[in-house]
Amino acid sequence: MIAIVLLSLAAFLPLTAGHAAFWHPSMWGFNVTAQTFSYDNRPVTPLMNYTFEQWWFHGHLGYPPNAGDFFDLPAGQPATAQIACDKGATTFYASDPGGDIQDGDNVCPGSPISEFHTTGLDDVKGCGLAITYNSDVADVQPGDFTVFSINQTCVWTRFTDFQVPARMPVCPEGGCICAFFWIHSPDSGAEQNYMNGFRCNVTGATSEVPLATPQLPRRCGADPANGRMEADLGNCTYGAKQPFYWFQAERNNMFEGTYSPPFYNDLYNFKDGAQDDIFQDSYPNGIPTPSVNQTIIPTPYLGGAISTATSASTSAAASTTPAAASTTTAAAATTTAAVDTTAAAISTTTAMASTTTAATGNGSETLTPTTSAGTGKPTCKPRTAASRLRSLRKRARSSWLNSTLDAVQGNIRRHRSMHDRSKLWRPF
Ligand SMILES: *[C@@H]1O[C@H](CO)[C@@H](O)[C@H](O)[C@H]1NC(C)=O
Ligand SMILES: *[C@@H]1O[C@H](CO)[C@@H](O)[C@H](O)[C@H]1NC(C)=O
Ligand SMILES: *[C@@H]1O[C@H](CO)[C@@H](O)[C@H](O)[C@H]1NC(C)=O
Ligand SMILES: *[C@@H]1O[C@H](CO)[C@@H](O)[C@H](O)[C@H]1NC(C)=O
Ligand SMILES: *[C@@H]1O[C@H](CO)[C@@H](O)[C@H](O)[C@H]1NC(C)=O
Ligand SMILES: *[C@@H]1O[C@H](CO)[C@@H](O)[C@H](O)[C@H]1NC(C)=O
Ligand SMILES: *[C@@H]1O[C@H](CO)[C@@H](O)[C@H](O)[C@H]1NC(C)=O
Ligand SMILES: *[C@@H]1O[C@H](CO)[C@@H](O)[C@H](O)[C@H]1NC(C)=O
Repeated sequence: MIAIVLLSLAAFLPLTAGHAAFWHPSMWGFNVTAQTFSYDNRPVTPLMNYTFEQWWFHGHLGYPPNAGDFFDLPAGQPATAQIACDKGATTFYASDPGGDIQDGDNVCPGSPISEFHTTGLDDVKGCGLAITYNSDVADVQPGDFTVFSINQTCVWTRFTDFQVPARMPVCPEGGCICAFFWIHSPDSGAEQNYMNGFRCNVTGATSEVPLATPQLPRRCGADPANGRMEADLGNCTYGAKQPFYWFQAERNNMFEGTYSPPFYNDLYNFKDGAQDDIFQDSYPNGIPTPSVNQTIIPTPYLGGAISTATSASTSAAASTTPAAASTTTAAAATTTAAVDTTAAAISTTTAMASTTTAATGNGSETLTPTTSAGTGKPTCKPRTAASRLRSLRKRARSSWLNSTLDAVQGNIRRHRSMHDRSKLWRPF
């Protein structure tokens, strides 16, 4: 039921298409313009069907940052990036041939109004920052990058916060190497990947535990656009994960089709915010082999709490958790918490429950099975999302469901207000 309601909400989310890059003097290609290459290879141009040399670091390895320029990553705090369709729209406009076109949080100021309400999918699919603890860019291979922070509402605002995991260890003497990754929704009809590499450095580190070897992310969230209404949490990759390398001519690690791109959101178990489970000690009991039939969901050690594994095979968790993942960030976060607390609630010992609680921040609410699917078939007559929510809320028997609905409503409001801004953003 929730899945269906949330799916219908997707129609209310705005659509945009546009090109964007991460801008900072620490990046490779900071001063690359449309004329630098024989083709338009500005940092904002999408990467598609390119050779490895063309897509890796956006083909900008010959355009390194100046010595000493780093993007700082304060452990346990947000790092604010500037994402824009033109360097002139950022505080680094001085070295842009077009000059200063900054306009608040607008990702692409001055673009003519254009709307892309075409397929019923929105473009906000999330983006991520990845890191490798290596200072020599010539040594870095695609499999070395670990995604450490996700912003699922990327790209909406120029200033975009990326939460840095508190347990990120210090970088080697020459700093670390990072990259921004983004794949947007297929609604514009193009299989567009984005990658911008930059030099980064972790500050304020307190932990010394290195990152785990990153694994391939797996598709495991609800995917209504492709007919999968429910998440399959046993199919997820847990822990350190690589970025997606998709739709290039060479060295892909993802092979999804044109209309089912991999995304930096719950669809591939990339939770919004800091990826706190990417360290070598994050899963002391190991991670079960992911599979569609896997019923053990590992619980990470997040520093300070004892880890444990719990079974998530309850129908309640399976039937109500997934939908939020697909479209709404706030709902996804709320739902995730509910999954974890449900796991805690059904674990067999009190000790297990309380340690899981500590690990997730809250375990006092449990998901009541009365919210599972099949209890109320929605009618087919057209209704607004708000009226669906109202009627759903009337039937809400748990405060968990109430808070999920609050989150969804908040998201609708937020997306509406962002809609005006999105009208200004067009692809070019
Ligand atoms: C990728 O590029 C090759 C060679 O340039 C071309 O033959 C092929 O059709 C392109 N594939 C796609 C999916 O665009
Ligand atoms: C980019 O251009 C500006 C202005 O010309 C210059 O000061 C800066 O050093 C350049 N940065 C890089 C990385 O080339
Ligand atoms: C994503 O970025 C926006 C804009 O900076 C910020 O408001 C939001 O909190 C960020 N999300 C996360 C999970 O950090
Ligand atoms: C990275 O940050 C640490 C902590 O602030 C500092 O000691 C170190 O010198 C920085 N590394 C580089 C290469 O700037
Ligand atoms: C499980 O993950 C694999 C690898 O990403 C994917 O091909 C498959 O569709 C997923 N199955 C389900 C049911 O999520
Ligand atoms: C999952 O279980 C079903 C039923 O036992 C089986 O047919 C299928 O092959 C299993 N799939 C995987 C990926 O293990
Ligand atoms: C934990 O749950 C309690 C009881 O519902 C609530 O008052 C509190 O705000 C929750 N804390 C967090 C961190 O979500
Ligand atoms: C959920 O919200 C509705 C309407 O706001 C309220 O009547 C109901 O008591 C709430 N239920 C719970 C369990 O908080």
